[in-house]
Amino acid sequence: MREKEQKVGKLEQLQDNYVLKTYANYPGVMFAKGKGVKLWDSDGRKYLDFASGISVCNLGHCHPSVTAAIRKQASKLVHVSNLYLNEKQPELAAKIVSNSFDGMVFFCNSGAEANEGQIKLARKRGNSCGRNKIIVMQESFHGRTLATLAATGRSKYREGFQPDMPGFIHVPFNDLQALAAAAADPAVCAVLLEPIQGEGGIVPAKEEYLNSVRQLCDDLDILLLFDEVQCGMGRTGRYFAWQNYGIEPDAFSLAKALGNGFPIGAFVVKRKHCSVLGPGTHASTFGGTPLACAAACAVFDAIESEDVLENCLKQSEYLFAGLRDIASSVGGIKEVRGKGLMIGLEMEVPAGELRKLAAEKGLLVLTAGENVLRLLPPLVIEKKHCDKALSILRVCLSNMRSGV
Ligand SMILES: Cc1ncc(COP(=O)(O)O)c(C=O)c1O
Repeated sequence: MREKEQKVGKLEQLQDNYVLKTYANYPGVMFAKGKGVKLWDSDGRKYLDFASGISVCNLGHCHPSVTAAIRKQASKLVHVSNLYLNEKQPELAAKIVSNSFDGMVFFCNSGAEANEGQIKLARKRGNSCGRNKIIVMQESFHGRTLATLAATGRSKYREGFQPDMPGFIHVPFNDLQALAAAAADPAVCAVLLEPIQGEGGIVPAKEEYLNSVRQLCDDLDILLLFDEVQCGMGRTGRYFAWQNYGIEPDAFSLAKALGNGFPIGAFVVKRKHCSVLGPGTHASTFGGTPLACAAACAVFDAIESEDVLENCLKQSEYLFAGLRDIASSVGGIKEVRGKGLMIGLEMEVPAGELRKLAAEKGLLVLTAGENVLRLLPPLVIEKKHCDKALSILRVCLSNMRSGV
């Protein structure tokens, strides 16, 4: 035990000395091992993970077939550059397209990079007729690069990095009138939004709103771009959150759960817009390596063969019912909202405090927005995991309410 403590202490010291402090690390915890819905810290303490690395490990930790695919490909070929064909990239592109719409895919490494690509797509198309402004949403989050920061509605992320990259118009989410007024600007070439805002506090787009936005974009011949980085890859019970709405975007981004933890991002473009980004207009050294694509192919295969989407919907129904019961019997919760296993609890008590108490009892959850507790469990959870999480949340919230 003492040896372990010393080892963790030494690692904390190295982290402190040598890793830039851009993250508020959770103090005193280092995770050493993960399997499915569970994580173990360096003391061997077990946690139920209802965060999934922020919607990344949607199939749970170290999913056996994803791990096997990574192992197999790593011993065969890791990288060749996009100057050459590799055997996994076209296979993955075909899987993404067959589960979304007829189009083509560009591969990259992260959510921000995928959104950058969508922004470039919109500008390249728009600039050919003098249009280059993109309408984006207040409270949105699109990444930490300069363009995606400028697109991000949550202003705290932009603080200190001014000047903002020009060309973005921020409007309130779910407000069609505000969007239509902004779209009257003839320089507008696209609308970019998250079908369900994640960092903004788990706020789904209203169905009527999204349908009207689609119509408006068609009427004005501007692109509708969706950011599916957090809400995609099965999180809402469909492959992509937009599939819940009966409309299609012109392009969408994905990352996070695409590789179940192996870094890979992508954006997908409708076939009618595919000639906009031709040879030489966009590139990424590590985009779509055989290794990353092998991991993501295994993710798609597991989603299919293990009925992950069906399970997501089933467990979602159970969790929502349990959470609503806590809200009515314990109180302290203003609203339970979201879709599938992307769940937000708008709290009347401090969400950060509840998160901390839950972690002490072995349940990892997240916060988002102003005062929202965010649950993003792996899509492979079972009823017994939901029961455990609900019981921990009930106890913690009751204790908070009674001042224990
Ligand atoms: C909706 C959304 N878009 C983009 C990003 C940025 O992704 P990455 O951190 O992989 O660049 C995130 C990350 O949380 C996100 O939630």
